[in-house]
Amino acid sequence: MNKTLIVYYSLFGNTEELAFEIAEQTDGTLRELIPEENYSFEYNTAVKEVRNQISRGFCPKLISGNESIDDYETIFIGSPNWLKTMAPPVLSFLKSHDFMGKKIIPFCTHGGGGFGRITDEITEECPKSKILTGIASSGSISPEEITAWLTSVGYGEKAKK
Ligand SMILES: Cc1cc2nc3c(=O)[nH]c(=O)nc-3n(C[C@H](O)[C@H](O)[C@H](O)COP(=O)(O)O)c2cc1C
Repeated sequence: MNKTLIVYYSLFGNTEELAFEIAEQTDGTLRELIPEENYSFEYNTAVKEVRNQISRGFCPKLISGNESIDDYETIFIGSPNWLKTMAPPVLSFLKSHDFMGKKIIPFCTHGGGGFGRITDEITEECPKSKILTGIASSGSISPEEITAWLTSVGYGEKAKK
């Protein structure tokens, strides 16, 4: 069995697209995080909702994506960069599992801010995991660049497990 899991949250589809490409190239299993109440698709309203949740460290209840991670050795974790940090549903996921001994590979999409604090925060939440170099995309990353990155972390077209 392929022991790779690709977990992501995406509101507008950018992070989902990157997750799909990673799954395609690694043959991993995709898992979308869906919060009980989704955010507004209107940018300014979403910023207000997100700012409120992040300031409280709020972890929304997930109605999908919270199954066991026991079967997986490597977990790609994807989020949009929201106010320099990860989307709250991703924090919910991190807080509700034990990542001891697993390899974690972050990925994010953003509007210019790169990872922001996302990698540092994942590292804090998963102190007993090996965190590998992630990838941050503002939409211009080609499949070949993703292949090169995946190869550097032990995957890639020829390294499928
Ligand atoms: C509420 C909100 C906050 C955002 N904050 C940032 C930010 O701080 N820095 C940044 O570079 N992009 C920011 N963005 C842009 C998103 O990271 C970017 O559009 C991302 O690709 C969206 O991912 P998605 O399509 O998977 O939802 C923000 C977008 C939203 C909706």
